[in-house]
Order: sequence, then C-alpha cells, then structure tokens
Amino acid sequence: MSELKKHKLGWIGIGRMGYAMAERLAKAGCDIAVWNRTRAKAEPLVKYGAKVVDKLPALASRDIVFVMVSTWEDVKEVVDKLLSGSAKPRMVVECSSISLEGSAELRKILSEKKVQYLAAPVSGNAKVIKAGKLTFVVSGPKAAYEAAKPYLDMMGTGSSYVGEGELARIAKICHNVMLGVVIQNLCEITILAQKAGMPRHAFLDFLNKSVMGSMFTRYKTPALVNLDFHVTFTPRLLRKDLDLGLDAGREFEVPMPLSSLTRDLLQQMIGQGMTEQDFSTLLLMQAKASGIELKPENVQVSDGLSS
Ligand SMILES: NC(=O)c1ccc[n+]([C@@H]2O[C@H](COP(=O)([O-])OP(=O)(O)OC[C@H]3O[C@@H](n4cnc5c(N)ncnc54)[C@H](OP(=O)(O)O)[C@@H]3O)[C@@H](O)[C@H]2O)c1
Repeated sequence: MSELKKHKLGWIGIGRMGYAMAERLAKAGCDIAVWNRTRAKAEPLVKYGAKVVDKLPALASRDIVFVMVSTWEDVKEVVDKLLSGSAKPRMVVECSSISLEGSAELRKILSEKKVQYLAAPVSGNAKVIKAGKLTFVVSGPKAAYEAAKPYLDMMGTGSSYVGEGELARIAKICHNVMLGVVIQNLCEITILAQKAGMPRHAFLDFLNKSVMGSMFTRYKTPALVNLDFHVTFTPRLLRKDLDLGLDAGREFEVPMPLSSLTRDLLQQMIGQGMTEQDFSTLLLMQAKASGIELKPENVQVSDGLSS
C-alpha cells in the first residue's frame, strides 16, 4: 500500500496554521478527516478530498490524529472530547505551541489510554507552509516518530527528532523566544536606519543580502516596508511563547534578560490595544517611541517565499 494511504489521518483545528497543514496532506492524496470548532473554515478542504466531520469523537477511529489549536487549555479540551467515546486513535501528534507541563500532562492522559504521543511543534507561518518550507521539531517514542515522519515530510521540508518526552517543547519555546527578540531588534534597526535618512526598503535590501539576512528577515520585509500588518501570528500568541520561555528560564535557572525586555515591550503594545494585527506592528511602537510617523513605501519587495 502506498505510504499516503497507509494510515487514516484525522485533523483537529483548522485555523491559520491547521488549514495550511491539512491542505498539504489532502492535496498529497492522504486519507484525511478534519474537525474544526467553526466548521465553515474546514469546508474548503473538501475540494482536495478531505472529509469534514461534525462531531470531534468521530476522529477517534482514525490511526493518527494531528492537533493544531491555540493553547494547552484548548488542546486539553479537544483531546478530552476526542477520547470521550469507546474508540481511540493509535497516535496523537500535537503540533500547537504549548508548555512543557501541558505536554507532560497530555502524555499521561494518552498513555493511560494506550495512545502513542508525539510532541511536534512547528516553525513557519501559513505562507511558509504554502511555500513548502514548514519544519517540525519532534519528541516522543522513536518508533512513533518513524511512523509519522512521512506525513510530517509531506507538510514541509522535514523534521528534527530531538529525543524522548517533552524535549521538542523546549526547542520550540527557545525558537519562539528568538522570534520575539529578533523581530523587536529588526524593528529597532529599521527605524534607526529610516530616521538616519534611508528608505526602509533600501536598508532591508542590504540586510537581507548580508550574512545577517534570513528566511525570517526576508519574509517580514514586505510588512516592514509597506506596512501590511495582515495577521500571520498575533501579539498575544507571541506573548504566550515569551512567557513560556521565561517560565522555562526560571525552572532551569537561566537568566534571559533580552527575552524579559522583549516580553515587556510586547506587553506595552498589547496594553495599548494593538492586538488584532500582526506581531510585526512592534515597528509602529518603535516608530512612535522614536517620534516618527510611518507611511507605506509602496515598493514591491520580495518575501523570499513566492517563486
Ligand atoms: N501563526 C503562526 O505563524 C504560528 C507559527 C508556529 C506555531 N504557531 C502555533 O500554532 C497554533 C495555532 O496557531 P494559528 O495561528 O493557526 O491560530 P488560529 O488561526 O487562531 O487557529 C486556532 C485554531 O484552534 C481552534 N481552537 C482554539 N481554541 C479551541 C477550543 N477551545 N476548542 C476547539 N478549537 C479551538 C480554532 O478554532 P476556531 O476556528 O473555531 O476558532 C482554530 O482552528 C498556536 O499554538 C500557535 O502558537 C503559530
């Protein structure tokens, strides 16, 4: 049997990330059934061959169930509902960004039901997924990882297996702490360059070509140049991840001065009600603090993702 149809897949959570991930599996030809609290968001997946189920426990008869919701509380709620009947899946692959403690509690709940569990958080936003560049960091039993790996590969450029237990959660938290610190610094230096006299697109063109440029600095460039703050990741979700990082820093006794400061700058933005747009609106805060008013430059710049 082809790898694609070897397992019946289930998917819980068709938000910005979940939609794009499940879409890749459906388009690849996998046998996938999906559930979302707001059903309408899942319906467009039907045209790629996915089935949409009305009741979450209907996914318990699938072999591998992926979860992509928001917080640990949401994960707990959907997994409790998934396991509320007599059926249970063979494996749950949990991809949301949640705490170590939440992940460990989930492992306990699932192991009591003899369901295998992989912690598999991701790096990349919905556009990155569309471009085929999503990556996973995974922990849990190695054999479960080997079984899930072909599906993880179909959703992006692959996965890194980091060991047993909840290690993947720590790796993801570290990654997102860097995301917060880097976006704040990128906003600071972009405003500095502009206030010193150069257009933002010219400065970022140089930065993106330099050794400091990255996939991230490139794909944030259109937002910083043209002030398109269409949400990819909300300030609240980023604050959650910085809080998770600071909690881990306390637990392992690791000072994180840059991360603490970044967390508070983000808090300042959220406190002012800037919550609905992209987290890169940190640029607007930085501009205000520097006494300048930003205008879109209306220059076509590459995000490094579209071919
Ligand atoms: N966006 C990014 O760039 C990015 C990157 C890497 C990782 N992540 C992580 O990926 C996860 C999802 O992020 P996202 O951007 O896709 O968020 P999102 O667009 O807000 O989607 C959240 C999804 O979770 C569902 N949900 C939330 N609470 C629920 C509950 N109590 N019961 C049932 N369903 C619930 C939502 O259902 P409804 O549609 O009904 O609201 C929706 O499908 C988060 O943990 C985030 O930190 C995000």
